[in-house]
Amino acid sequence: MRFNLSEISALIKHRRSLKPEDYSSRKVQRDMVENILNNAIWAPSHGLTQPWRFKVFMDGGLDKLKAFLPELYEATTPAELFNPKKQEKLQLRPSQSSVIIAVCMEREAAERIPEIEEIQAVACAVQNMYLTCTAYGIGGFWSSPKFIYTPEMNAFLGLGEKDKCLGLFYMGYPAGEWPKSHRKPLEYVSEWITE
Ligand SMILES: Cc1cc2nc3c(=O)[nH]c(=O)nc-3n(C[C@H](O)[C@H](O)[C@H](O)COP(=O)(O)O)c2cc1C
Repeated sequence: MRFNLSEISALIKHRRSLKPEDYSSRKVQRDMVENILNNAIWAPSHGLTQPWRFKVFMDGGLDKLKAFLPELYEATTPAELFNPKKQEKLQLRPSQSSVIIAVCMEREAAERIPEIEEIQAVACAVQNMYLTCTAYGIGGFWSSPKFIYTPEMNAFLGLGEKDKCLGLFYMGYPAGEWPKSHRKPLEYVSEWITE
């Protein structure tokens, strides 16, 4: 075995989503964020298109999200679905987080690869981010409010018409215990075809 499988399995199982409400005030340093993203870019992509793009909001950049996200939520949510608590959460989260990364997919001009595969490649990159966060003891959280898929979000992030923001990845050190989780056993989710 070339790598320590029991450590890798433990890391994969230990990975959790930790929300900004559960972060401490300890700051995640820029070199760690760079290491996290340097692992992200080693994800697979069909045709090696490397469609992931990262818009990293840190320090003063977080204020931009603090102003924009609640505004975008209100502008894009039908009145009957608007929830002031959700809006407040969007406003608070940038102050609770060390870093927020808008994880995006840039559509290749030639469109050689189906869009779904480009999205899948970016999701693989996010898993690399999650795992690297876990190794550092940093909490990560992939959030995907509906408004991230709007033209207004693309304009804010400087994305092209065919590009997509796939999520906001929040990061911070946990204030309390690392959460536990569970999964359905493999028997429930697998079918083995052997002849
Ligand atoms: C594509 C994707 C989008 C997600 N979006 C949200 C979200 O908008 N809000 C949320 O609470 N969790 C979101 N999550 C995180 C899941 O809730 C979380 O992964 C799940 O509850 C399992 O918990 P764990 O990550 O700690 O194992 C998302 C996860 C994925 C893969």
